[in-house]
Amino acid sequence: MIDDLYSKKVMEHFMHPKNIGKIKNPSGVATIGNPTCGDVARYYIKIKTKKIKGKSAEYISDIKVETLGCGAAIATSSMATEMIKGKPLKKALELTNKAIAEALDGLPPVKMHCSILAEKGIKKAIEDYQGKSKNQRAKSKNTN
Ligand code: FES
Repeated sequence: MIDDLYSKKVMEHFMHPKNIGKIKNPSGVATIGNPTCGDVARYYIKIKTKKIKGKSAEYISDIKVETLGCGAAIATSSMATEMIKGKPLKKALELTNKAIAEALDGLPPVKMHCSILAEKGIKKAIEDYQGKSKNQRAKSKNTN
């Protein structure tokens, strides 16, 4: 059956996914699709700044996701959001689909591609934020 295919952790995150929904006025947003199966996920991130080891650093203060996809896509997006919530941006950018799958005690080989959706979606949302803040810095430079 389905729970013979998936680990207990995958089943938990599939049945009770975390961080589902949207963020109003997100710092970054990205939609990512898997062209092979048509599954889609949309990530919203909120970035704030705090002192980390005496230095001011940006971190993910909140993250939400809407996933329209298979069980593995739902479980990996849920686990990925849990793994990076509250973490510095630098750490979030290091997240890999392999690490997400490992945190879920593995995925069947035919489902590994579903975890790529989570890795890419989060990175794309961070890139969206970085692009916006770069533009904002350029604008304020021009008006000074
Ligand atoms: S089958 Fe499409 S993401 Fe899993």
